[in-house]
Amino acid sequence: EKGGYDHFMLKEIHEQPSTIYDCLRGRLDAEKGTITMKGIQDNIQALITAPRYIIIACGTSWHAALVAEYVIEELCRIPVEVEYASEFRYRNPIINKGDVIIAISQSGETADTLVAIEKAKEQGAFIFGIVNVVGSSISRASHAGAYTHAGPEIGVASTKAFTAQLAVLLMIALKIAKEKGTIDNTKYSRLLVEMHELPEKVEAILKNASQLKLIAEKYKHSVNALYLGRGYNFPIALEGALKLKEISYIHAEGYPAAEMKHGPIALVDDQLPVIFVATKDEYHAKIVSNIQEIKARKGKVIAIITEGDEIIPSMADDIFMVPPADEIVAPVLSVIPLQLLSYYVGVAKGCDVDKPRNLAKSVTVE
Ligand code: M6R
Repeated sequence: EKGGYDHFMLKEIHEQPSTIYDCLRGRLDAEKGTITMKGIQDNIQALITAPRYIIIACGTSWHAALVAEYVIEELCRIPVEVEYASEFRYRNPIINKGDVIIAISQSGETADTLVAIEKAKEQGAFIFGIVNVVGSSISRASHAGAYTHAGPEIGVASTKAFTAQLAVLLMIALKIAKEKGTIDNTKYSRLLVEMHELPEKVEAILKNASQLKLIAEKYKHSVNALYLGRGYNFPIALEGALKLKEISYIHAEGYPAAEMKHGPIALVDDQLPVIFVATKDEYHAKIVSNIQEIKARKGKVIAIITEGDEIIPSMADDIFMVPPADEIVAPVLSVIPLQLLSYYVGVAKGCDVDKPRNLAKSVTVE
């Protein structure tokens, strides 16, 4: 049942070329330049004219929401707020006429997300669900939605569900931007091709998984770890830190890279691994100077970089390269090495990676 892999987590990480493909299949046609999503088409007016989107989720799904915030605001020019479902449900949230609520959940059974949806519905909001489990409570409670089609996820740590959530959110952003006229045709066509190429790029990353096993061996005795990223990769830093905590019980924190000067830099010494999500994008020069700041304080730098990067390899202690990609789709790639790193650290420490202590696959109580 684990398909020859030692753990479900590893199997599910390796399934990502096909789960991303399945998620795009029948929806995204890069040649024709079309995105077909019934839940979006049927509600296109509400989605285009919405004054604001509010995305609610928990855990890893909340990290997918943060990526979506950046992408939707950039491509669709619609203001987006991202809320933890657990906070949203208790704080008498302001929902204005026309606001759209997007709820993201792998299981479709997360209690806080479900109650948050019910609260928003009472205030007349339109609910769009992005769910993996077909027929789950959240899919039934939503007015419309899109399934992620990642297949059953058994490992408690969300991996393939996350990349499928990103793929769905990117398609939604592109479709709405196209309908709304906030993206030019060249950029739209180019990004569709970039999406289409994701499965093979993920495959290429997975071929180098053993490099991360070696890095994991070096850092498995660490007590703390810091994850830093900027822009579209900032939520990926958060996700990398969450994965490491869950799977290896190493205390890890994620921050926007520039924020480190406002506190976390105090943690840096010659024992601290700092994982930079530093793929080529418009912030590259900035992240290079953040790496210099960590090295000046003798921190250990592990950097996820783009193939062909000529600057970071000479600065970092360890690097892992991912194929070049537009910065908007890059999070789908940069998260994969972070999933693998957590997996290998967890295994090296003898942790139960499929069922970490104290965690449940779906949190159906608050
Ligand atoms: O099923 P959901 O997506 O609603 O679950 C949300 C979180 O409980 C979930 O992502 C959790 O954080 C995972 N253990 C992350 O790996």
